[in-house]
Amino acid sequence: MKKVFITRMIPEKGIQLLKGKNYKVVVSPYQRVLTKKELIKMAKGFDALLCLLTDKINDRVLEGIGPQLKIVANMAVGFDNIDVQACRRRNIIVTNTPDVLTETVAEHAFALILSLARRIVEADAFLRSNKYKGWEPMLLLGSDVYGKTLGIVGLGRIGKALAKRAVKGFGMKVMYADVKKDQDFEKEFNAEYADLNAILETADFISLHVPLLESTRHLIGKEQLAMMKKTAFLINTSRGAVIDEKALTRALKNKEIQGAGLDVFEFEPKLTKGLSKIFNVIITPHVASATRETRDKMAQMAAQNIIAVLEGDRPSNVV
Ligand code: GLV
Repeated sequence: MKKVFITRMIPEKGIQLLKGKNYKVVVSPYQRVLTKKELIKMAKGFDALLCLLTDKINDRVLEGIGPQLKIVANMAVGFDNIDVQACRRRNIIVTNTPDVLTETVAEHAFALILSLARRIVEADAFLRSNKYKGWEPMLLLGSDVYGKTLGIVGLGRIGKALAKRAVKGFGMKVMYADVKKDQDFEKEFNAEYADLNAILETADFISLHVPLLESTRHLIGKEQLAMMKKTAFLINTSRGAVIDEKALTRALKNKEIQGAGLDVFEFEPKLTKGLSKIFNVIITPHVASATRETRDKMAQMAAQNIIAVLEGDRPSNVV
């Protein structure tokens, strides 16, 4: 009987698919991230591992689980938590869950844009603390989103889905930076290909959609923040370490930029000291893909990747 270990409770739909194949499916009983030691102990001898972005899968973990491990299926689109080279050396397939979360993450990035521009979180807190004494001509003035320039850093699926919302829904102008130029995209969205510096200097909203790689770690640091307009907003739904969070905290505190919307953090779940005390930042706890519909689909996709490998087929989402 083939054995699948799941590092934490995931939506039932994914588990049902695996059980439907008569695999032995074991889910960690803990509602927390497993230590490496626990993970190795629980998954030892298993054929497949369904893990999350909070699980660090390195060579030591692979060694501990043992040679019958054939697939590491991450229930996430990002896979910087997995040592892909180590998996390759051991002939272990690594898969992720792209596509199914694209629109959902773009929606969250846009929610951050709107909330920042219209000071939704601040306004809500203002009212709840009984400060509202009646309509005022100058109360909580925000910024328009309509007609502004959105800078997209990393034009993958999510970056494009964000552009669609920005251009078609809000009449925004789009600039994008990416390793590749995409002429079809430029035509469809009247978008401008630019380098990062040009985006930093020009855009009113800058949204990050790059994977975390050595080349993107601290892509936005002190120098880049200093290039942004004082009225500009920075949005990050990719990976926390793409931003030097200490530099960002300082820039926000000193009002060097207007604000930031962050769903991811450099040292998750910890936040840089002082960040949560700042009012021109909106912080959400890595929930950009967290809708019931999308998490169901992510769990199903991870399960389908495992089934493909265990049945001797090639899975759809090999990284
Ligand atoms: C979430 O951050 C993901 O990579 O799916």
